[in-house]
Amino acid sequence: MAKPEIDDVTGFETTGHEWDGIKELNKPLPKWWLWVLYVTIIWSFGYWIAYPAWPLVSNYTKGVLGYSQRQVVMDSVAAAKAAQGKFREAIAATELSEIRTRPDLLNFALAGGKAAFGDNCAPCHGRGAQGFKGYPNLNDDDWIWGGEIAEIHQTIRYGIRSDHDETRVNDMPKFGIDGILEAAQINDVSEFVLSLSGKAGDAEAAERGRAIFAEQCIACHGEEGKGNTELGSPNLTDAIWLYGGSKDDIVESVRTGRGGVMPSFTARLDDVTLKQLAVYVHALGGGL
Ligand code: HEC
Ligand code: HEC
Repeated sequence: MAKPEIDDVTGFETTGHEWDGIKELNKPLPKWWLWVLYVTIIWSFGYWIAYPAWPLVSNYTKGVLGYSQRQVVMDSVAAAKAAQGKFREAIAATELSEIRTRPDLLNFALAGGKAAFGDNCAPCHGRGAQGFKGYPNLNDDDWIWGGEIAEIHQTIRYGIRSDHDETRVNDMPKFGIDGILEAAQINDVSEFVLSLSGKAGDAEAAERGRAIFAEQCIACHGEEGKGNTELGSPNLTDAIWLYGGSKDDIVESVRTGRGGVMPSFTARLDDVTLKQLAVYVHALGGGL
């Protein structure tokens, strides 16, 4: 083997590689650099022992410090809950109507109510509580089952025509499906209903419908058709319709009796959340 060549200028060996007269020196890595490398290797052993590191077949090495990101998240959730605990206890202990008079509780209830509304109610009532056909708008001040905060609370807790024993329920007869009224009578009474909110239609038919209304409908909707929140029978004079206010919509309502279903939330949400929702929905309806 040939003796390694020594470079005259630097005094280092060369590797024997040469390009156009330029030779490569065989210089070791700087000491400081090597030491940093060794220290990081030693550090990594400490890290493997202290922290979760190695994937195993169905698990991983946990490390002696017991650190876990999941635990960190759970701890911060628990801390947030504890911070809220004071407010939640106060809400639990305060009458619904009184919550509105205490700004700190009111703000907490509105924020919690809004979040719970987005999770539980928005699919049916819309994110802005604007409602859809068959699902009432909760922003207006028109209530089928009452807009007092206690009434709203009851609706949310027990639902409407739900499977809860204390559900709100009142079934409008299926006048067409069950053959209580003839098609012509349904037409006439529907014309009368239209006239209640000032919609011009067939005046003669509406006049014939008046008698049918008095006989079949006032028990629930009232003599003037203004409805009754205790019976969940809508006001038919205000031109706000759950199922639409066209002639066809009204005929369909009389024919089928409708019967919208809202689930009960007592079993799904805790008492504090139910109160927060009542406060939130009440505030939406212009009740503040
Ligand atoms: C599965 C659909 C559905 C969900 C989910 C739902 N609702 Fe309803 N809700 C309805 C229907 C349908 C009605 C109207 C029932 C009727 O015809 O009287 C209603 C009626 C109401 C009423 C009575 C309105 C009035 O005019 O009296 C309130 C208040 C209400 N919902 C609040 C809520 C809140 C708060 C939530 C969430 C916790 C919620 N709803 C979730 C379907 C739903
Ligand atoms: C036993 C009580 C009862 C009787 C009797 C009754 N209704 Fe109703 N009516 C209701 C209830 C409750 C609703 C709400 C149904 C729902 O929310 O799904 C309703 C809803 C309606 C609606 C839909 C309102 C809307 O906002 O879309 C119309 C229209 C209507 N009734 C007309 C009549 C007419 C006309 C008669 C008589 C031929 C009549 N009702 C008799 C209880 C009654």
